Amino acid sequence: MLQDKIKQYTQEIEQFAPGSAADVEAFRLKFLVSKGIVKSLFEEFKTVSVEEKRVLGKVLNEFKQLAEDRFQEAQVEFQQSSGDLERKEGDLTLPGEGIELGSRHPLSLVRKEIVEIFKKLGFVVSEGPEIEDDWHNFSALNFPPEHPARDMQDTFFIKKQEGNDIALRTHTSSVQVRMMEMGKPPFRAIMPGRVYRNEAISSRAHCFFHQVEGLYVDENVSFADLKQTLFHFVQELYGEGTKVRFRPSYFPFTEPSAEMDISCTICKGTGCNLCKGSGWVEILGCGMVDPNVLENCSIDSKKYSGFAFGMGIERVTNLKYEIKDLRLFSENDTRFLSQFETEII
Ligand code: DAH
Repeated sequence: MLQDKIKQYTQEIEQFAPGSAADVEAFRLKFLVSKGIVKSLFEEFKTVSVEEKRVLGKVLNEFKQLAEDRFQEAQVEFQQSSGDLERKEGDLTLPGEGIELGSRHPLSLVRKEIVEIFKKLGFVVSEGPEIEDDWHNFSALNFPPEHPARDMQDTFFIKKQEGNDIALRTHTSSVQVRMMEMGKPPFRAIMPGRVYRNEAISSRAHCFFHQVEGLYVDENVSFADLKQTLFHFVQELYGEGTKVRFRPSYFPFTEPSAEMDISCTICKGTGCNLCKGSGWVEILGCGMVDPNVLENCSIDSKKYSGFAFGMGIERVTNLKYEIKDLRLFSENDTRFLSQFETEII
């Protein structure tokens, strides 16, 4: 029945809520083109009885008007907002998408943590150049001229220079020398920074990494001071109850020298893959500053003594976060990086 159809389509038009210009066009194609519904209802009108015509003529004309008005209304709404501004989701009052925050690099986080612990003990932070000369990186630190660490294999040399080659520093111990040359004791400083070694890149080695060097020089500094300082550091960083042990070792710039192990952070000393079943993991090298080093920096080794230590920030970070591949630190994969603290600055 024509009357029922008009009723049904009137309802449809009244409920028409376009979400885009495409919806408006679909409306036009359905109702207003020459083969559309409005035209077809007028065709059907011709076939009804005279009585019906009298009633339905007005209704049909109103229906046609409704369809045209609704189309025009909708067209105005979407004409003004073409392109990017096209209203897709409807509600323009919704808040926009937030800007994602970055996160701190794990090495920066751990470096900061190390620095904070030593700052509380009165250590100042000092930095030195990454491009160093042989004197600061090796000779002043008591490396014998034939020491293997000077080999091309370990060191990235930049320039050969009579008696004082230029290279990328292989450790932050060079900053000790710069500091002692420039001032007078007492010195109490930590020296974080990037270092370089000519190594094949793998999950366990990289051609650049980061270290924190520590130095304390004053009258009467003893090995007991060294042990207590590092013990305190480990309790702060890895938690109360972390055990330490010192093993005798050799470094040209310290005498005596030691390496410090801590009880394994993963298995707490019972033995696991990380500590290869031993319950201990090495975290740093340390010792009493060799008198030769003090003298090389014009410090009276009869009056002053000192301790030094050096640790790899990557190593400390690996133990803290159980990271197994060193390459992750320099690949900038946000899936890795976004797992660490986000800080609003
Ligand atoms: N410079 C050493 C290295 O790169 C680390 C080190 C060991 C630093 C003992 C020190 C120290 O100050 O006393 O392997």
